[in-house]
Order: sequence, then structure tokens, then C-alpha cells
Amino acid sequence: GAVQDIFRKVRHPAPILSLASVTDVTGIGSWYERISRLDRRVEDADYCIEPKFDGLTVVLHYREGVFVQGATRGDGEVGEDITPNLRTVRAIPLRIPVASSTVKAPPYLVVRGEVFIYLKDFEGLNRRLEDAGERTYLNPRNTASGALRQLDPGITASRPLNIFTYNIVYSEGEVPGTQWETLQYLQELGFPVCKLSRYCPDISSVMKTAEERIRERDTLPFEADGIVIKINDLKLAGELGSVGKDPRGALALKYPARE
Ligand code: IVH
Repeated sequence: GAVQDIFRKVRHPAPILSLASVTDVTGIGSWYERISRLDRRVEDADYCIEPKFDGLTVVLHYREGVFVQGATRGDGEVGEDITPNLRTVRAIPLRIPVASSTVKAPPYLVVRGEVFIYLKDFEGLNRRLEDAGERTYLNPRNTASGALRQLDPGITASRPLNIFTYNIVYSEGEVPGTQWETLQYLQELGFPVCKLSRYCPDISSVMKTAEERIRERDTLPFEADGIVIKINDLKLAGELGSVGKDPRGALALKYPARE
């Protein structure tokens, strides 16, 4: 509650949508049946599978390649301006493209990502706090979220925050037509993109990859609360529309909650 009074509000250039979720692979089958009944093109669709990063959603604005504003998701329409704090996150490029890139940044680009803390960095942070006789943190997600909502960016800077980007919210200029190309494009511009995302040519490959990801959950170097399955063709995904704030073209498969 206090956060709303402290930070300036910013309206997102497009709604920061949420995700419908299921708890097992049969739910993926039902989702596929439902959307392919709505639009037969889904039968020929390909997909992209990504980890569902358990962090804090942020929206990053770049004008002429310069990082000018960063906000929290808020209610999906309006978020809180946390630009000074995000400037201290070393993984967030302050200028795109990064020096080594061959691509050109569009005049205005708004990117969505998830700020998180790697498990090994979280353990290191807690060890240092313990050695200093200070209170330790319970989990990486709340630590990341608390660090971004500080009034003093110096405190944010002292936390080992990281980011994965995965979505273009808004762009002036040409951007890729598929999710898989979007991830490659973001990476070429210099944004951190998760290497564990996978291209799936069809729904049976989605089911197989989803089963593997459920088994591999404990091998991840960061916390994920599931996987996200996305129709690769962004035009088709957009044309499928939304149910409330949940786009039909994407689905979360949530891992069971940990004790
Ligand atoms: S896509 C239309 N991809 O999960 C785009 N969301 O329950 C919809 N999240 O707070 C979101 N990892 O920020 C997408 N790889 C990922 C994600 C992801 C984490 C978050 C998202 C939102 C929540 C939705």
C-alpha cells in the first residue's frame, strides 16, 4: 500500500497482460483444443516455451537507444516509476544496441522483463548478512521486489539483481513477427535473454518439452514457478484476443507450490 504513495505513477504504452494458468499437461491439451476450435490456423502453429521467472515484472523504455524510464507492472495499466533503482541493475543496458551489436535500435522501444536474483547470489547475500549479524532474507523473489521498491537507489545497487527480457510491449519501427525471433532480437540489442527458452514446432513437442521441464525444475539456477507456452506467430497470438487480462495465445503451466 505505501508504495503507491511514494513512487510516481506511469501509464504503460500498452496493457501489461497477465497469463491464464493450468497445473498439469492435460491442461495444455485443453487449451490447445479450445484455441484451435476458435481459429483453425492454430492447428499449424509453432510455439515457444520459456521458464516462468519468479521475480518482479518491469517495463523498460528506450528512446533513441537510451534507457529513459523503468516501471513496475502495477495493475497492468499504470505502474510505479522506479527508474533510478533500475539504473543500478548492471544487467539492464543503459544504451542499446550494446557496442558489439550489428542491429539498430528503433526510435522508441518498450521492453518487458522480469527482475530476479540467481540462487547462488541469494545464498551469497544471506551469508554476508549473517556474517554481519544482520537479518537474512526468506526468498529471492521478495528480496528482488523489496530491493526495487527502495527510496534509496544505493540500497538497490547493493543487491545482486538480474533480469531476463522476453517481450516487446511497444515499438516505433520494425520488430520481429515471432516470439522466437523476438528473443533473438532482444539478445542482439544487448538485453539478457534466458538461454533455457525452446522453440517447439508443434503441440506434441510442447507437451514433451513441458514434461521434461517439470522433471528438471530443481536444476534451474534461478527460481521459476512454472513454464510459459506461447504461440510463436505474434500476429496470430494477437488475433486470438484475450479473456479479461489473459491473452489466449499464451498459457502458464504452474509448478506445484513448494512447502
Ligand atoms: S508472458 C502476453 N513470459 O508471469 C505476455 N510472463 O502470471 C504475458 N512471467 O507477472 C506474459 N516469466 O510477468 C511471460 N517467460 C515469461 C514470464 C512471464 C514470468 C510473469 C509475468 C506475469 C506473470 C503472469
